[in-house]
Amino acid sequence: ISEDSIEVFSHVHPRDDMTNVTAKILSTVGSQLHNRPHHPLWLIKEHIKDHFYRSYIGRTGNPLFSVHDNLSPVVMVEQNFDSLLIPPDHPSQKKVDNYYLNCTHMLRAHTSAHQKELVRSGLDRFLLAGDVYRRDEIDSDHNPVFHQMEGVRLFSNHELFARVKNGEELSLFESAGRRTPQKQETHTLEAVKLVEFDLKQALTHLMRHLFGEDRNPIRWVDCYFPFTHPSFEMEVRFQGDWLEMLGCGVMEQELLCSAGAGNKMGWAFGLGLERLAMVLFGKIYSLSNPLLFSDISFWLPAEGYTENDFYDLELVDKFTHPKKEIQMSHCYRVVYRHMERTLTQEEMHIIHGAIEQAAEKELRVQGRY
Ligand code: PHE
Repeated sequence: ISEDSIEVFSHVHPRDDMTNVTAKILSTVGSQLHNRPHHPLWLIKEHIKDHFYRSYIGRTGNPLFSVHDNLSPVVMVEQNFDSLLIPPDHPSQKKVDNYYLNCTHMLRAHTSAHQKELVRSGLDRFLLAGDVYRRDEIDSDHNPVFHQMEGVRLFSNHELFARVKNGEELSLFESAGRRTPQKQETHTLEAVKLVEFDLKQALTHLMRHLFGEDRNPIRWVDCYFPFTHPSFEMEVRFQGDWLEMLGCGVMEQELLCSAGAGNKMGWAFGLGLERLAMVLFGKIYSLSNPLLFSDISFWLPAEGYTENDFYDLELVDKFTHPKKEIQMSHCYRVVYRHMERTLTQEEMHIIHGAIEQAAEKELRVQGRY
């Protein structure tokens, strides 16, 4: 980051009056938590991939959904908005809500930014995971960086109606139709209803796979996106509230036409991975096996440590050494639970010791045990 340009992934972007990315945000770009083996977000991504690989198999046993998790979060403003029919005066384009590198490039605000390019490249079914950036107010619910999983499935006339008796007589499109709350002007109602059914069923099955047998209740809420119609949000019951989990809908035909797939219809969804993690891990903690606690304390190095490094552990106590006032110590409480049975003290001590060693080695802290 310099006075007149910004370098990301060895690309230099000249600054202009749209530039508002900060050095702090840029330092997180490329950390790709969803690609770090055993990170909670990676784990959830793998579960979703696994579900789609197993549920959608081609005639020769090949997976039908391709997975893309390495697309650069630096996109053209046009990809993030125009390609999705989001007009320039739409509130989501506001400078205060997004991170712009300059007037042509930005950090993607959603994984939908890649829908058009992937459809244009000829894909009919794909999943896409990535880090996304929004300049919201930061509080416990809103982080400027989070992760999404996008899914898209397209249907030809034949594919959609293959399972319907005399389906060859039905059609995806009609020429003199009207846009109603149920459908777009170019779509037939019967096609929309089948696509909508397939979408909701795919996502309901996904949640069943992720949450297991005693699953959280879900509900569908009508909503609006410029790039889908009709559009829905799925909400999941969690700790007495309804939590928004994903947005989805029947893709706008104009988008498909501009991507060279005007003869097909499709659905799309965009799922928040942190939200899913919250429900999934919240659920694990509420299972009946007993919990064991153990604290870990260490002296911080003079610099280069942030609390987030100690991912999702609870900060119990901050303590400054009375004599050496510059030295700070942190204490974290680690909560242990075996997924299938009661964890023993001995088992916990082995794991706890390994965490202490890893913290010393990787975070350059000094143990206070
Ligand atoms: N991109 C939307 C969001 O971030 C979610 C979405 C994806 C909605 C795909 C519809 C279709 O809120």
